[in-house]
Amino acid sequence: MTTALITGASAGIGAAFAQELAARKTNLVLVARSQTKLEQLATQLQTQYQIQVEIIPQDLTAPQAAQTVFDTLNSKSIAIDLLINNAGFGEYGDFLELDRERQLNMIQLNILALVDLTHLFLSQMRQRGSGNIINMSSVAAFQSMPYFSVYAATKSFILSFSEALWAENRKYGVRVIAVCPGPTDTNFFTDAEFPPILVNIAEKNYTSTKVVVREALAAIEQEHPVIVPGDLRNQILANIPRFLPREAITTFWKTVLGSRK
Ligand SMILES: NC(=O)c1ccc[n+]([C@@H]2O[C@H](COP(=O)([O-])OP(=O)(O)OC[C@H]3O[C@@H](n4cnc5c(N)ncnc54)[C@H](OP(=O)(O)O)[C@@H]3O)[C@@H](O)[C@H]2O)c1
Repeated sequence: MTTALITGASAGIGAAFAQELAARKTNLVLVARSQTKLEQLATQLQTQYQIQVEIIPQDLTAPQAAQTVFDTLNSKSIAIDLLINNAGFGEYGDFLELDRERQLNMIQLNILALVDLTHLFLSQMRQRGSGNIINMSSVAAFQSMPYFSVYAATKSFILSFSEALWAENRKYGVRVIAVCPGPTDTNFFTDAEFPPILVNIAEKNYTSTKVVVREALAAIEQEHPVIVPGDLRNQILANIPRFLPREAITTFWKTVLGSRK
């Protein structure tokens, strides 16, 4: 049996990864801050699918968080075959008006924790000559986004980083992929404090978490470096920026996102 570690497993896309992988008889390590939610999910999955589920309640923005997760698993001799760096959040608004600490926390979670976990687990995977890493990016990665500036920039980082690691690690038997969903059926937009009218537009264009997860798992099997799950709408969001001047795209997003402020 293989073992997958999922960050941000207590809700949304991470919890959907847990459900799908459990149904495929994969043992799981679930990481997030909400201990009670992780315990409830672990109990459900163990009972329903007879798999082993470890939970690690951990704030991934805390100092040495990735090392703590890594050491915890090593002390239990649990090797990770599939690392899913999914935990992340965004915040809507004018950069200067947003809380400085929260923007730095976003970078800490979306980028630093992801890089640190990747470094730690990739080393073991390369020694074994096998392993998979799924990094959760976004269609936001393909363009800058006024009023969502730090978030979109973190997702661009993840896309660039993951594609580079995909190329570096193929010869070692380790597959790396950036998953770039469009609006997906979770609490993400509400938690990011988007204005209700923009949440409404997102809701009308939601892809289900199940589709995101299934297409991500299929794409890593096919050794693709990047997947944009969902239908044509997400393909358009990801690909239009390649054909238009950068300032036209940025101005478009400023109009869409900024007009609601
Ligand atoms: N939903 C979308 O439309 C969408 C689109 C593109 C990309 N994405 C990306 O997909 C990923 C998952 O998003 P989602 O929509 O599923 O969001 P979500 O429902 O809000 O889930 C986020 C997960 O991250 C965990 N988390 C947040 N802060 C954390 C911290 N400091 N330490 C550890 N875990 C933390 C949360 O658990 P706790 O609160 O329990 O810690 C939760 O399990 C994110 O990286 C997001 O950027 C989402």
